[in-house]
Amino acid sequence: MSAIATRPAVDLADTPVVTIDLDVMEANIRRLQAYCDAHGIANRPHIKTHKIPEIARAQLAAGAVGITCQKLGEVAVMLEAGLRDILVTYNVLGAAKVRRLRALADHPGARLTVAIDDLAVARALSDAFAGAGDPLRVLVECDTGAGRMGTPTPAATVELAQAIAGLPGLWFEGLMTYPITDDTARFFEATLAKLDRAGLRANTVSTGGTPAYPRAHTVPGVTEHRAGTYVFNDRATVAAGAAAWEDCAMRVRSTVVSRPTADRAVLDAGSKTLSSDLQGQTGYGRIVEYPEAVIVRLNEEHGIVELGACARRPQVGEIVSIIPNHTCVVTNLHDALVGVRDGQAEVVWRVAARGAVR
Ligand SMILES: Cc1ncc(COP(=O)(O)O)c(C=O)c1O
Repeated sequence: MSAIATRPAVDLADTPVVTIDLDVMEANIRRLQAYCDAHGIANRPHIKTHKIPEIARAQLAAGAVGITCQKLGEVAVMLEAGLRDILVTYNVLGAAKVRRLRALADHPGARLTVAIDDLAVARALSDAFAGAGDPLRVLVECDTGAGRMGTPTPAATVELAQAIAGLPGLWFEGLMTYPITDDTARFFEATLAKLDRAGLRANTVSTGGTPAYPRAHTVPGVTEHRAGTYVFNDRATVAAGAAAWEDCAMRVRSTVVSRPTADRAVLDAGSKTLSSDLQGQTGYGRIVEYPEAVIVRLNEEHGIVELGACARRPQVGEIVSIIPNHTCVVTNLHDALVGVRDGQAEVVWRVAARGAVR
């Protein structure tokens, strides 16, 4: 990581500012990579958490085979920054997006794969890629219990895989799911057996998520894993038992701008800084210096903190550090993240794919 160190002049007292502890982030990157290496699973981190090409490159340098993006806007930023092997885990739907995907696939050196769960999506992609030099690699997204997107049964999965295999311009590459649930192993076991009977092979079986990554190797046929949040961690991953507080690299540094009553503090971090995402938590983040305090309410630029349970209470002007509930959405709210080591700013990253939701 020293290659991206620039020792910028950043005033960490000019809040709110989002910092990333580089030692913690680098340890998080190494830990997941070591798990993947130990189990022979390819590591394909999801960049939605950081949206920063330099961090994607650090993940590759540690051993990742490529990256995962959710949206084509993220793909465009990452390709432009020199990342090449990219999986898109989202139905690419609509003429404008299909055209854009086709153009992105022509980027020199690009190796794109998409996950889809619908024949209509496959047909439109086939029309676009039928004349392409290389077919587009396609994974079938399977709903193995999470109830979001994905083919709902092994039979529906194999039916879609067969259709993809028969369409010009497409290459059936394998299966993908998010997250790993108690049903994932059973679903994939049945699907792989059915694929085999249909004469199809899944070269790639891709699982995802931070909380369940230590179980990825138990999924039948798994070849790669996509974790995102692990790189920074947050209050939700700690609550899920997937990380300790010491593994949380992100802090939102915020100033106590008012102490109107004995029991109330107001921070300069509101919903435009912390996001309104609760992720099942009580309050909008953990104040490291005052863990009993609760950020009970957010206005856009005000964080209202209830101090009733605190023996010690902060003063006006004091700077506190908040571990956010959900690090990925905090990243997307900020122009830049500041990498710190031993409390000193070492690098400022532009959040290059910030807002790339198309
Ligand atoms: C398709 C997909 N893969 C992987 C991930 C990464 O999950 P996590 O952030 O829990 O590591 C996500 C998260 O939203 C996802 O939607």
